[in-house]
Amino acid sequence: MKRLLVTGGAGFIGSNFVRHLVGHTDHRILVLDKFTYAGNLASLAGLPAKRVEVVHGDITDAQLVDRLVNEADGIVHFAAESHNDNSLQDPLPFVRTNLLGTYTLLEAARKYDTRFHHISTDEVYGDLDLDDPGRFTETTPYNPSSPYSSTKAGSDLLVRAWVRSFDVPATISNCSNNYGPYQHVEKFIPRQITNILRGIRPKLYGRGNNVRDWIHTDDHSSAVLAILTEGQIGETYMIGADGEHDNRTVVELILELMGLPPDAYDNVPDRAGHDLRYAVNPTKLREELGWRPHYCDFAQGLRATIDWYRTHEDWWAPAKDATEAFYARLGQ
Ligand code: NAD
Ligand code: TYD
Repeated sequence: MKRLLVTGGAGFIGSNFVRHLVGHTDHRILVLDKFTYAGNLASLAGLPAKRVEVVHGDITDAQLVDRLVNEADGIVHFAAESHNDNSLQDPLPFVRTNLLGTYTLLEAARKYDTRFHHISTDEVYGDLDLDDPGRFTETTPYNPSSPYSSTKAGSDLLVRAWVRSFDVPATISNCSNNYGPYQHVEKFIPRQITNILRGIRPKLYGRGNNVRDWIHTDDHSSAVLAILTEGQIGETYMIGADGEHDNRTVVELILELMGLPPDAYDNVPDRAGHDLRYAVNPTKLREELGWRPHYCDFAQGLRATIDWYRTHEDWWAPAKDATEAFYARLGQ
């Protein structure tokens, strides 16, 4: 039985990954989370205390990180400031957590020669044109656009350097946009679902032509577990599930699934520097590790996600008013 340190395990993707580990492995899990506005203990509710322990702390706290890494057989590093719109208002927490935090973890992994898996995003590669036939691969040059994506790019480069210079046994994955349960209501899909549940019209940035490549968070979890167990040290793996849709289509689909007319949304001012299109080529993960996504029908995954938000208002309601007040100040 292994003991895994999961940073950011009280966030959206981290908490879904902890649930996945509990269901699919016999690992013991130590969650390290700062419980920023994005961390929520309720996202880990119901998990067995014998398997999951939670430490409230900051990944930039070198003493704490040293102690926890010393006790761990492996690290899966999800903790980050993760929202582009926040990074445009106040980039400093992104620089601190995403860069200094990753550095702090890498130094501890180096000291104890601990297996390290770094969770990253396809946004480090910048964006693609709508009519570009290509998709991002593991060799696409880095070209990030926002404070969020540039700090994630920097954190990836730190990991690569610590592998090359110090032989830290690390892997990296760059995943496309996730959706599913326990996602903060600031993000696109849960914002629109919970708006509708509250009687507010969905808000589409600009004309809604921007394309994202959607993957259900359970599929992200299974891919990370595959890389953790069978991935090659030093390698990067793209994670994606062939889920490209433009934002307008996604809003129309949510409205349809929730029984409303497809045009019952508002167009609001666009995001500064808004990346046009992300698209991931997951061939390496599929061919080398035999990974396959479970959710291949986007409408089905979206329906399940809508049902989850319908039945978990107690989870999302506490954050809803403050989130909408933030967007109202931006005119979005
Ligand atoms: P999230 O914002 O929902 O969760 C982040 C978690 O990290 C929260 O629990 C927060 O409390 C914690 N955290 C923040 N700063 C911390 C610090 N200094 N020390 C300890 N904990 C801290 O984010 P998410 O959407 O779950 O993303 C998780 C990871 O996956 C991030 O690294 C992100 O870049 C990456 N990623 C996200 C997506 C996506 O679609 N959301 C896609 C690809 C990759
Ligand atoms: P988001 O969930 O913030 O993820 P990311 O910026 O990491 O891709 O946004 C997804 C897409 O949805 C992005 O193109 C911005 C757009 N968007 C809206 O149109 N309306 C909204 O209310 C939000 C939050 C995002």
